[in-house]
Amino acid sequence: MNDSSAAASQTADTATTIGQLELVEFPHPALRRVSRAVVRIDEELRDAVRQMFEIMYAEQGVGLAANQVALPYRLFIVNTEGRPDAGEELVFINPQLSKPRGTAVQEEGCLSLPGVRMDVRRPARVRVKAYSLSGEVIDADLDGFLARVVQHEFDHIEGRLFTDRLSEASAMEASRALDGFREIFAGKQDRGEVLGDREITARLDALERARCQA
Ligand code: NI
Repeated sequence: MNDSSAAASQTADTATTIGQLELVEFPHPALRRVSRAVVRIDEELRDAVRQMFEIMYAEQGVGLAANQVALPYRLFIVNTEGRPDAGEELVFINPQLSKPRGTAVQEEGCLSLPGVRMDVRRPARVRVKAYSLSGEVIDADLDGFLARVVQHEFDHIEGRLFTDRLSEASAMEASRALDGFREIFAGKQDRGEVLGDREITARLDALERARCQA
């Protein structure tokens, strides 16, 4: 990833063109934004999903939400095997979660918080309703690892990170890591390698107007 080229290409793009996507890290403003429902699936959005799978596999992830590539849409992808030659590529558009049941604790990490891994308590089972990329209805009761990944990614599009769900002791430890990320990000913005918060927000607003309900 080359931050200076990312900043340049985003500036050069017309406001609503998705273009080439790059993974963003905390505290990029897209990660704290509550994503809006998509009402228009166009070829650019399909291309964005293809790029998201490429990025996820390159980073050895098992899930990736749209706001992790600075897109303000209610959409995330999952492949619990984390490899293009295994598992199933799932795309969840405008997802809704319901019927949380049970409790499970498992260690989680996040591509937008590299190196941070901590135990997170979540419901063990959950029901998801969403649309696939081809517009088919997804309606499934999930458990196990898939339930965990879907809940982690759903948090993203609500502007939440797994570090929001830690026990008090873990939260103390995480806050030190988050401060480190803040310092790095501010440095990149100071050097012009990453757009400023105001420019990032303007671009997210424009992308939202292009494909979300007013
Ligand atoms: Ni994540």
